[in-house]
Amino acid sequence: MALAVKIELFRRGCFDFITTRDGVKHEKQDEALRILTDGDHVEILYGGAAGGAKSWTGAVWLLFMCLCYPGTKWFVGRAELKRITQSTFLTFKRVCTMYGVPDELWNFNGQLNYIQFYNGSRIDFLDLQYKPSDPLYERYGSIEFTGGWIEEGGEVNFGAYDTLKTRVGRCLNEEYGLKRKLFITCNPKKNWMYDIFYKPYTTGALNARMYYIACLVQENPFIDPDYIEGLKTTSDKVKFERLFKGNWEYDDNPNALCSHDAICAIFGNKLAIRTGKHYITGDVARFGADYARLAVWDGWCIIEKVCFPVSKTTDIQTWIIAKQKKYRIPNYRCIVDEDGVGGGVVDNCDIQGFVNNSTPFAGENYQNLQTQCGYKLAEHINANEVGVAEDVMSQSEREEIVRELEQLQTWKADSDGKLKLKPKEEIKEDIGHSPDWRDMFLMRSWFDYNEYDIPDNIERVLGLT
Ligand SMILES: Nc1ncnc2c1ncn2[C@@H]1O[C@H](COP(=O)(O)OP(=O)(O)OP(=O)(O)O)[C@@H](O)[C@H]1O
Ligand SMILES: [Mg+2]
Repeated sequence: MALAVKIELFRRGCFDFITTRDGVKHEKQDEALRILTDGDHVEILYGGAAGGAKSWTGAVWLLFMCLCYPGTKWFVGRAELKRITQSTFLTFKRVCTMYGVPDELWNFNGQLNYIQFYNGSRIDFLDLQYKPSDPLYERYGSIEFTGGWIEEGGEVNFGAYDTLKTRVGRCLNEEYGLKRKLFITCNPKKNWMYDIFYKPYTTGALNARMYYIACLVQENPFIDPDYIEGLKTTSDKVKFERLFKGNWEYDDNPNALCSHDAICAIFGNKLAIRTGKHYITGDVARFGADYARLAVWDGWCIIEKVCFPVSKTTDIQTWIIAKQKKYRIPNYRCIVDEDGVGGGVVDNCDIQGFVNNSTPFAGENYQNLQTQCGYKLAEHINANEVGVAEDVMSQSEREEIVRELEQLQTWKADSDGKLKLKPKEEIKEDIGHSPDWRDMFLMRSWFDYNEYDIPDNIERVLGLT
């Protein structure tokens, strides 16, 4: 089939020459190309597993859009520019060969990183690395594209997505009647893609402008069987869940202190340690922005909780005192964070105050108290000691808690060699809010170092008998 015919077929929305071979159609790829060329959808997330033809689909879309619509301007962006030139560009060249697009029709400028077509169309390669000097990606804030593709969205910062989606639909779209399009390909990753696409998709709440196509490797009829075999036989459970089964709940973070499974197991945990001794821990919101979260623990099991959207210290105090009476919890077994608003609660209730940045207990080698308690909490979770009684948390609260506890991650140690946790600013960047639940949980570990129990044999201990 002559190239001109293929271009015309593509323009008319007939993708069989791409997606069908020997009578077998790659249904998902076909669907993706249809959505990528329709007049309704703006943002399309494709993939969610390995080997589903993400790169091929992106490359073939850009190639044919450039050929169909002279003078249009596109981009392909990744966290690392050299991965575009080393990997995505290779796919692009294979795609050109496959569909008989001769080299003379385009030119690669390796200095400025773009592909120029004979007909004036062009594809820019964008470096989407996060730069602290340019957190909002203002370097791309004034460039005008027809449409574009973010490859491997799991590596790309929210700011890049947020800026680039405003840069499409600005080059000849009206003239050609082309809807603005942002194509994103990815493996599962709990970042902005999870919040903006995947989660709303699972609950049927995805915005009508947006589209998610999940494609597993088994759904790609063009895949080399060895590729599937390699994935299937991986002994790495997280890799298997994410890349083979397309499970978004597993994050591939080698720094995580607790596995996804261990965290999920806290809900209704039969093994949770209950001692009959009760505690109250609470993360009190700073100044209205976050939630105040408080819980009553029986040993290591949460049996009651409350959330206040705005910190009203009087409400919090009333709640604490009521629970102290109900469960007979002495002041010294109650703790809330003492930074900010919490300080007032600590004073008024005469309970313990948790100071995040204070020195760790027992001379242990942590950056600060909060870090120490975070690590301790992770140990208790991994030992299956932590629990949340049934019916204490709603489904959405469970999901929030899982996400926040997954943020218990080691962080690069400084030259002082002290153990660190992933910093709060980084966590906020990834999950979009402050990890209030996590803080409420980790304060429970404070009592690992501060049990004020008076033993029955106190007199002997003190040498009085
Ligand atoms: N329409 C097609 N025609 C022929 N081969 C195709 C087509 N679509 C995909 N393939 C083949 O399927 C294989 C996987 O495609 P691709 O590399 O695009 O997948 P991917 O989802 O990007 O994979 P990874 O997760 O490894 O990045 C490749 O070998 C590619 O050549
Ligand atoms: Mg790929």
